[in-house]
Amino acid sequence: KKNIIIDCDPGIDDSLALLLALQSEGFNVVGITIVSGNAPATIGAQNALKVLRLVDRLDIPVYIGAEEPLKVPFESAQDTHGEDGLGNSRIPFVTSVQPKANAISFIKNTLKQNPNTTVFALGPLTNIALALKEDPNCFAEISRFIVMGGSYLSHGNCSPVAEYNFWCDPDAAKFVFSQNLPVSIEMVGLDVTRKIVLTPTILEYMKHTDEQIYQFIQQITQFYFDYHWEHETVLGCVINDPLTIAYALDPTLAKGFNSHVEIATTGISRGQSIVDDHNFWQLPNNSYILTDVDQTAFWHLFLSRVCKAEGS
Ligand code: BDR
Ligand code: CA
Repeated sequence: KKNIIIDCDPGIDDSLALLLALQSEGFNVVGITIVSGNAPATIGAQNALKVLRLVDRLDIPVYIGAEEPLKVPFESAQDTHGEDGLGNSRIPFVTSVQPKANAISFIKNTLKQNPNTTVFALGPLTNIALALKEDPNCFAEISRFIVMGGSYLSHGNCSPVAEYNFWCDPDAAKFVFSQNLPVSIEMVGLDVTRKIVLTPTILEYMKHTDEQIYQFIQQITQFYFDYHWEHETVLGCVINDPLTIAYALDPTLAKGFNSHVEIATTGISRGQSIVDDHNFWQLPNNSYILTDVDQTAFWHLFLSRVCKAEGS
């Protein structure tokens, strides 16, 4: 089994990503670290526990990390994800287990003690940046680093050019991309994640699968459906984060290219991921940018793992 750490800000789509990872036998989730993003970190941690309870995995530790971005004031995405970060679903709190403190130490120590761990970053990169600032070598033995964030040719989702995770903490994103990490940053950006739409038809199909999982997904996505219909005239909701997990499980699901990427931090380009696809800067590649995804293959994988759907 592959050891993985999931750094996230649950978050409706983060929760779906957690479900996919937890329901996939190839992965051993050694810990879930929480950063402020879609919701403040304390709320996000509670949401991670709700997901763990659903699949009876409260043995997996949840660690709270950075409450605020490195430099800019924190702006959550509770308008999109609900006050509770889970679409105002009123799922009861988990009281039997408490989240732990110090996500940054957990990330550093785990990566040192367990070579070949894969790290997923599904929220602003604050926790990852802080871990690398405290110990620039902590990624030395990592297996893969897969990030949901940024966009290449697609427009932004919180400014004309910026995707939320990089926009929320642009200084952390800039720092992480400039670290000459020993592995390429696998950038799963809006170019591909926008194509992953949970439609009413897919949700309807889930009804015939695992009852509890269906109820949970239905409850947390209702608000997201309404938001997408109202603001983006999309019938269904875009779920960004689960593609990172699916792609790690099945690399044939998506493809891209290697390039050098930098993140802008201020002004109208705040949070923009600038991909030097023509090699103007003559700098070494630091990223692998996904550009194409097989949506049908994604849904087959998601439904068979998360919902235990047969015949998919
Ligand atoms: C990203 O921002 C959040 O709203 C989602 O959880 C995802 O990680 C998409 O821009
Ligand atoms: Ca997220």
